[in-house]
Amino acid sequence: MANLTTRFFGLELKTPVIIGSSGLSNSVEKIRLLAQSGAGAIVLKSVFEEEIVNEYKTEFQKQSDDQSNLEFLDYFDYEIKNDRVKNYLDLIQGVKKAGINIPLIASINCASGNEWAFFAKRLAESGADALELNLFLLPSDLNRSAEQVHNYYITTINKVLDTVSVPVTVKLSPYFADLARFIKELSETRLAGITLFNRFYNVDIDLDTRQIVPANVLSHPTEYLQPLRWVGIVSGHVSCDIAASTGIHDYQTALKMIMAGASAVQVVSGVYKHGYDVVKHMVHGMDKWLDQNGIASVSELIGCAGSAKVKNPAMYERVQFMKYFGEFDQSVD
Ligand SMILES: Cc1cc2nc3c(=O)[nH]c(=O)nc-3n(C[C@H](O)[C@H](O)[C@H](O)COP(=O)(O)O)c2cc1C
Repeated sequence: MANLTTRFFGLELKTPVIIGSSGLSNSVEKIRLLAQSGAGAIVLKSVFEEEIVNEYKTEFQKQSDDQSNLEFLDYFDYEIKNDRVKNYLDLIQGVKKAGINIPLIASINCASGNEWAFFAKRLAESGADALELNLFLLPSDLNRSAEQVHNYYITTINKVLDTVSVPVTVKLSPYFADLARFIKELSETRLAGITLFNRFYNVDIDLDTRQIVPANVLSHPTEYLQPLRWVGIVSGHVSCDIAASTGIHDYQTALKMIMAGASAVQVVSGVYKHGYDVVKHMVHGMDKWLDQNGIASVSELIGCAGSAKVKNPAMYERVQFMKYFGEFDQSVD
């Protein structure tokens, strides 16, 4: 059997297959099954500040006629926050008490600068082995410059890094004008790792109602090509570990991500679509492939096809199809 151990989040993982943040791990029993299937670590569902704010607003509307309730609302805000943190604490302690030996990574998504540090501190105290910042800002604000977006990321990350001592990682979106340079800059903070990429909720338009509707909650296996390219581009040029995420549904794709430069892969949609066995197949498939190719450990493979190692790194940056269009010939009816 090949050695599948790897490092990510500053932690040693038994396998490179991380279960990404989602409802897949919201109970001790589910975490047990994922660990038994061979997952190397689990990122828990994010605590969303927005959710807490919405709950608070609902209560605020109920109470707003009565000014004397302002003190109660302060208390309520505190209570909801504590409630969310307590859920994490209960889940993490439940896993440890059940003797399930797998690193658990807490995840947060905050909308306002001040709340990041609050939640980071409380979740780190809850016993999580590391912290993933589900940090994204869709650059849709017509008045916010790229520099302001950058500053928001850097300030938030430094604030969290100054607050906690557990390893901190960030899951990024691909929406940056200077993506490669920015990933490099982030890797030079004290982050333990960066995950490329988060996948957003998509919208579509219903032709009949002409209304916006949600689209494709789960990823398609072809979506791995975007993170593959960017993991490959930054591989060997950054100062922290990189994990790949989005569209990783089988062991072949996981191996490609590792060859591009990822120390680990995050998987969500594949498990939602095909169950826990996907994790088993990925782990067994990687093991078998390594054995068949005479490779003793997964760590030997990391980055072997990244831009710092391949003969023609410019392939990662090729975006125009001149040559391929010229030769492309397929008859159509
Ligand atoms: C149902 C569902 C819930 C998710 N919840 C979260 C979440 O709470 N926090 C987060 O950072 N990402 C969340 N994600 C995003 C995933 O962690 C992952 O980044 C994304 O789905 C891409 O990976 P995949 O192609 O393997 O699904 C969620 C994804 C799905 C499908």
